[in-house]
Amino acid sequence: PQEKLLDSISFYLYQGCWVPSTFLNGVIYFQKHFEARDTDIILASIPKSGTTWLKALIFTIVNRSRYALQESPLLASNPHELVPFLDNHYMKNQSSIDDLSSPRILNTHVPFALLPHSIVTSNSRIIYTCRNPLDQLVSYWHFLLALYPEQTTMKLLPLEKAFEMACQGVQIYGPFWEHLLGYWKASLEHPDKILFLKYEDLKEDVNFHVKRLADFLGCPFSVDEERRGVIEEISKFCSFDNLKNLEVNKLGKRPAGHGNSVFFRKGNVGDSQNYLTSSMEKRSIQFGPWPRASGTLRKSYYQ
Ligand code: A3P
Repeated sequence: PQEKLLDSISFYLYQGCWVPSTFLNGVIYFQKHFEARDTDIILASIPKSGTTWLKALIFTIVNRSRYALQESPLLASNPHELVPFLDNHYMKNQSSIDDLSSPRILNTHVPFALLPHSIVTSNSRIIYTCRNPLDQLVSYWHFLLALYPEQTTMKLLPLEKAFEMACQGVQIYGPFWEHLLGYWKASLEHPDKILFLKYEDLKEDVNFHVKRLADFLGCPFSVDEERRGVIEEISKFCSFDNLKNLEVNKLGKRPAGHGNSVFFRKGNVGDSQNYLTSSMEKRSIQFGPWPRASGTLRKSYYQ
């Protein structure tokens, strides 16, 4: 089955997941040919759930003894250049990804059930980030608007239509809840392998999660680092305001031709409320309740 989104993008239902036409061959190739290493760090997400932020955070945490923040590669490169996106790029750049030194930090949007076998069976680690589905949807819709203004997305794909499709599960790498629950269940079964994060929790207390990420990745902060405020410095360095205002992200371009700035829009929790009509909000009950970030939830995640 196929659903048209814009002139240039359709979603294909591949193994139960709505994959964009532009990535379909890449996803199949990645599934078949990718060989995970035990040291790999795989960042998984539905697009627009905080991938860019997590790429910057993980890269900075893992490489902190290699690069001081003043000489971080993130000052000259967009997070997406430093953390390759496997679904599309493994097929096109297999040798450069195979040749990366360990630990490799890599990213995919495929659901847990579609991951290459070697990711699941190796000792590689997975970090999953998700976000309130309404904010994710509104963020994705703005992303399309920024990428394809020439297709007058407003006319072709009003938010109402994108919302309607999402209610049927037809959305990028959807259905949303299957994606989220696949990783959630796997994270409960394999807590040492899969770390499950929520965008809203990071917004509430990023320092806590920077520490948690470092612990999970086996590179905890030393007492001395904590005393010197390294955690807070990393959080600040990877903050929305800092990354958005770096020259590379304001003016730099991706190989596909669009600006790096498309990855930095507002970075808020709850922005969907500014765009959804009341009837859409009523219908959004279909998306299910979204747990609020809270101390208890955070604590129970961590234990
Ligand atoms: P909005 O469109 O709501 O602003 P992804 O990286 O998965 O594509 O997600 C993009 C969303 O994350 C966008 O949300 C973007 O603004 C936000 N974002 C990007 N960098 C961020 C950061 N450092 N901190 C918080 N949010 C960030």
